[in-house]
Amino acid sequence: MDFRFSMPTEIFFGTACVVQNGDVFARYGKKALLVTGKHSARVSGALSDVETALGQRKIAWRVFDGVGENPTFAQVEAGAALARQFRPDMVVAIGGGSPLDAAKAIAMLATNEMPAAALFGGGFAKAPLPVLAIPLTAGTGSEVTQYAILTDDAKQTKRGFATPENFPKVAFLDARYTASLPAQVTVHTAVDALSHLLEGYLSRRATALTDALALTGMATLAEVVPALKAGEFSASDREKLLYASLLGGVVIAQTGTTAVHALGYSLTYFRQIPHGQANGLLMGEYLRLNWPACEEKIAALLSVLKLPDVDGFARLMTELIGTGPTLGEEEVGKFAAIAAQAASVAWTARDLTEADLAAWLRASLAVAPAAAVK
Ligand SMILES: [Fe+2]
Repeated sequence: MDFRFSMPTEIFFGTACVVQNGDVFARYGKKALLVTGKHSARVSGALSDVETALGQRKIAWRVFDGVGENPTFAQVEAGAALARQFRPDMVVAIGGGSPLDAAKAIAMLATNEMPAAALFGGGFAKAPLPVLAIPLTAGTGSEVTQYAILTDDAKQTKRGFATPENFPKVAFLDARYTASLPAQVTVHTAVDALSHLLEGYLSRRATALTDALALTGMATLAEVVPALKAGEFSASDREKLLYASLLGGVVIAQTGTTAVHALGYSLTYFRQIPHGQANGLLMGEYLRLNWPACEEKIAALLSVLKLPDVDGFARLMTELIGTGPTLGEEEVGKFAAIAAQAASVAWTARDLTEADLAAWLRASLAVAPAAAVK
């Protein structure tokens, strides 16, 4: 064994953990910028809990709720402009993956005045504002990662910037905040968590420690499969999903993601397929592709997921997330070419060429001649 493991985020997991640990906010100063989307922070009850915790400690706050799904450069630049005006001591990120990732970018841009596109270049002169993260979905794991994924229109894909300083200082995970999520969002985000665990487990960067976490995460998800199929979730199911998502985040903070994410980003960017669903459409064939390179590990993860074989895995994905859109042949080539540029493809267990990526797409989705695609 030979590995390094760094996960500097302090984690509070459990019912009412925000209000019960309000003193944690006070450690980071007297002013907070709350970064969130338009609705979920309010509907989930998380915003009200944060406001209670901040109010009790006389911490002033402003809310920036201008983050949409798949955050753009313009959105994070607007948040950073508000931060430079309000001058907060901390950023409290409340939401699914998009607000959490946007908050990391805003925290960095608040102290390093630069265009959002320059975030990918690294080399930050100043440390970002501390981020305290509260996930409202069970999938992203962003509350415990150093990644911020933004939409890069110039490169026509979603792209991450990663630096150890992006790790949130604190993560508060309260499964009650996910109780109001629609069943479909719950399923898509759960499949995202599964992709983090599965890709991390099969990554060339996997270690004994990440394997232990990934297998535990997948075993936890296996317990929730009946609920995912039925679309009905108990409080215990919600807690398990959030725990599995957390473990997925801790795993990819070490291993990174691999070719599933790289290729899935095109399905999201060009076809607006939700991130988790995009990954789910690709994962069955991913296991077939990687079987020769890591047969034992794939057999182990299928056993943990209580699935008989790769075909059974593919059937489960179809049952949970459907079959996806029909692609045009020219889209297949374009998506494969874009994914081939992603560094994460190299961490896939098997070497994958651009032609392999295209063949994988063809095997995963229906493909029609360009003229037949609407
Ligand atoms: Fe993901």
